[in-house]
Amino acid sequence: MSAKNLSIDEAAINLQDECLVVIPTETVYGLAGLATSDIAIAKIYHAKRRPNFNPLIIHVLDVQQADRYVYLNEDAKALADKLWPGPLTLILEKKPEAGLSPLLSCGLTTVGVRCPQHQKTLDLIKKVGIPIAAPSANLSTQLSPTSVDQLNPDLINLTSGFIDGGSCEIGIESTILDLTEEVPTILRPGAISQQDIEKIIDKPIKSFSGHVDENIPHKSPGLQKKHYAPDIPIRLNALSKNSGEAFLAFGQTPQEIGCDLNLSETGNLLEAASNLFRYLFLLDKPHYTGIAVMPIPQHDLGIAINDRLIRAASKD
Ligand code: TXA
Ligand code: MG
Repeated sequence: MSAKNLSIDEAAINLQDECLVVIPTETVYGLAGLATSDIAIAKIYHAKRRPNFNPLIIHVLDVQQADRYVYLNEDAKALADKLWPGPLTLILEKKPEAGLSPLLSCGLTTVGVRCPQHQKTLDLIKKVGIPIAAPSANLSTQLSPTSVDQLNPDLINLTSGFIDGGSCEIGIESTILDLTEEVPTILRPGAISQQDIEKIIDKPIKSFSGHVDENIPHKSPGLQKKHYAPDIPIRLNALSKNSGEAFLAFGQTPQEIGCDLNLSETGNLLEAASNLFRYLFLLDKPHYTGIAVMPIPQHDLGIAINDRLIRAASKD
C-alpha cells in the first residue's frame, strides 16, 4: 500500500485543509473529515461510495465540545460522564447555528456523537479543535477495517493517508443509542450493552429490535440489511464444513472439521468481536466457496457479533 503514514500534526493540517484522513478508534478505523466542512463531507460520501441518505456521526474530544454542537439532555450527560471516551454513539438534536455541515445529517435535525477511546485520535481532535466526522473506513456495504492493512486501496487513494493506531481493541462498531425519543432506543448493538445503559440512566430502554424497516429510512439509515459483507457467501450457525468452504470457529471445534480460524478458542466474546472483521477479511478469498461460521451465543457482545454476521450473510 503506497498510502502515507501520517503523524498527528500532518493529519491535523490535512483535515484543516478539508482533506480526508483515516483514523484509528477503539472500535474500527474511521474515514475522517472536518465536521464543519461541506467539501470534506462531500469527499467522505464520494470516497466511501455511500448513499447520500445515510448520515455521518461526529467524534468529539469530550462532553464540553459535544455541548457546543448538540443539546445534551440529562440522559446524555449521565451516559457521557460514565462511558466516554468509549464505544457509545448518542443520537441527539443538533444546535442548528453551531456550524456542523448540513450534509452530515442528510436533512435530519439530529446527529450522532461519540468520543472515541484512542489517544492518537483524541490528540488529533484536540489539535484540530473541531469535531471530526467519521464513518467506518470501508467502502459502503464492505467490512469495516480493524487495522491499516485492511484498508481498501480505492478508498485510501482518495485520502491524504492514515494514522496507524494498531489493531482496534474492540473490533466492532459503537453501540448507537437514540436519545431523541421518549424512550431511549438502541439502533445498533455494540460493546456497550442495554444493561450498561439502563444501570446508568436508571430506567428501561428499548432494546435493539434487529428489525430494520426499509420504509422508515430516517431512524437507522445505515442499517440496511446487507452490510459488512465479504465477497463470498457466509453460512451461519454451521456445525460442519461443506466442501470448498472456509470454517470460522468459535470455542471448541469438533476435531474432524479442522477449522481455518477460531474467533476465540476459549469462547470469549470480547476476543471474538475483536477478531471478527479481520478473520472475515482473511477468509474472504476466491479459492473458498464461502465461509461457514459456527453459532455465537446471543448474549452480551454476542448480540452485536450476530447482528454483523446476519448482515454479512444477507443477500439483499
Ligand atoms: O464505532 C463507530 O461508530 C465507527 C467509528 C469510526 O467511530 N463509526 C461508524 O460510523 O460505524 P458509520 O457511519 O459506519 O455508522 C454510523 C451509523 C450509520 O448506520 C448511520 O446510518 C447511523 O449511524 N446514523 C448516523 N447519524 C444518525 C442519526 N442522526 N440518526 C440515526 N442514525 C444515524
Ligand atoms: Mg459503517
